[in-house]
Amino acid sequence: MAGDRSGAGPGATSPGGTGDGEPGWWPEVEPFRIKAVERIRRTTRAERERLIEEAGLNLFGLRSEDVYIDLLTDSGTSAMSDNQWAGLMVGDEAYAGSRSFYALRDAVEETMGLPYVIPTHQGRAAENVLFTTLVREGHIVPNNMHFDTTRAHVEHRKAEALDLAGPWAYDPVSEVPFKGDIDLEALERVLCERGASVPLVLLTVTCNSGGGQPVSMANLRATSDICRRHGVPLFLDAARFAENAYFIKRREPGYGSRTIPDIVREMFAYADGCTMSGKKDCLTNIGGFIALRDPDLYQRATVWAVLFEGFPTYGGLAGRDMEAMARGLREVLDEDYLEYRTGQVAYLGRCLAEAGVPIIEPVGGHAVYLDALRFLPGLGREALPGQALAVELYIEGGVRGVEIGTVLAGRDPTTGLDRYPRLEMVRLAVPRRVYTRQHLEVVVEAARRVLARRDGIRGLAFAEEPPVLRHFTARFRRL
Ligand code: F0G
Repeated sequence: MAGDRSGAGPGATSPGGTGDGEPGWWPEVEPFRIKAVERIRRTTRAERERLIEEAGLNLFGLRSEDVYIDLLTDSGTSAMSDNQWAGLMVGDEAYAGSRSFYALRDAVEETMGLPYVIPTHQGRAAENVLFTTLVREGHIVPNNMHFDTTRAHVEHRKAEALDLAGPWAYDPVSEVPFKGDIDLEALERVLCERGASVPLVLLTVTCNSGGGQPVSMANLRATSDICRRHGVPLFLDAARFAENAYFIKRREPGYGSRTIPDIVREMFAYADGCTMSGKKDCLTNIGGFIALRDPDLYQRATVWAVLFEGFPTYGGLAGRDMEAMARGLREVLDEDYLEYRTGQVAYLGRCLAEAGVPIIEPVGGHAVYLDALRFLPGLGREALPGQALAVELYIEGGVRGVEIGTVLAGRDPTTGLDRYPRLEMVRLAVPRRVYTRQHLEVVVEAARRVLARRDGIRGLAFAEEPPVLRHFTARFRRL
């Protein structure tokens, strides 16, 4: 990957763009020190074996206090800064015209260049409001890859959620720098053949379902050109937009000396709007928004926002939550932060790979994905290897990841058969600014120990299987 050093380890060089004047020996260090701490508890192996049995071998059933390192998600799990906590105190709780709403609106306009902002309680709520406004029965919504809730909201409108990531996105080991890119030829074809049924095109940055893989600026620009030619608006699913911008800076020719705010402005210049989950790159524990360029669409969307979320200047949030999002939105653009953030995830990936653990490469922005089929080659897909591996990681080290495979994919509604996805994975998502390198070393050691005893690991089968969203509440038994 030309010019990419984000996978480099301790002793690696700084990218040199941070102005520290001492490139050559700084690793990707924390650009913060710790002011408040939260106790976490180590459990014994015997306790964990009992706890996971009681939870029906499903990690969603565990209490968080029984988890030592929680890598279930990077969503809503960030540590806020002192500046954000201070913002909570000055949040304006007015029903209408809250000062904190204007703080959020100004932060969005400043960072993304989108002037019309509707706060929502989280990302999927933004999807609900926007899609209720734009998407009808029989429509098609193309995306590089839909996140689960995005797909569910499109399908809830009786429309088709069409994934158009290129074949590169499905290869677990190809070293492609922008695996999140949409297949432009496929998009052009869809718009030529069925353009009248396409109310909007989405690009998910970074592409979560594809492993947190970035979309290149060239692909954003070309997608925008195609959409404009066909008169279809382009929206970003912007949950991890800042991580995406950092990858553009590090990997895309011509962007190495541009600032992150500048790259972000260019990314959004190609879009007509976005849906945002503030629980990721606003560095908050709750919140989201829709941001738009078109005042008419803003008016139409606010009607649904009032119905589903609340008055358009609070949108299901407390004023203090909007204040924290506004501050997080500016903090997340700090290049030292993004270097540390992506560097920490890359560090975890590199240490796992060095320990012989099969992972999906290259490592994305927010998580490392273990390849369960290569990790447990003795188990067929019907033995739910991703779920089995996630359970063993918990037993070994108190580490909680999440299966992204057959359990999550569910059954085909027409045939009733399991939908076997292309990859069986365990996602280890790293919360922002929460864990230290020593925590990650526990994760690596746990994975190494599970690997060493993999021949003795049995597969799983469903003991209780709920009809929808089975991964949350299913119970399993060992084969
Ligand atoms: N879009 C993307 C790309 C996401 O990753 C998520 C959430 C959402 C939308 C929905 O946002 O949770 O605020 O309603 N992803 C979380 C995850 C849940 O664990 O990957 P939300």
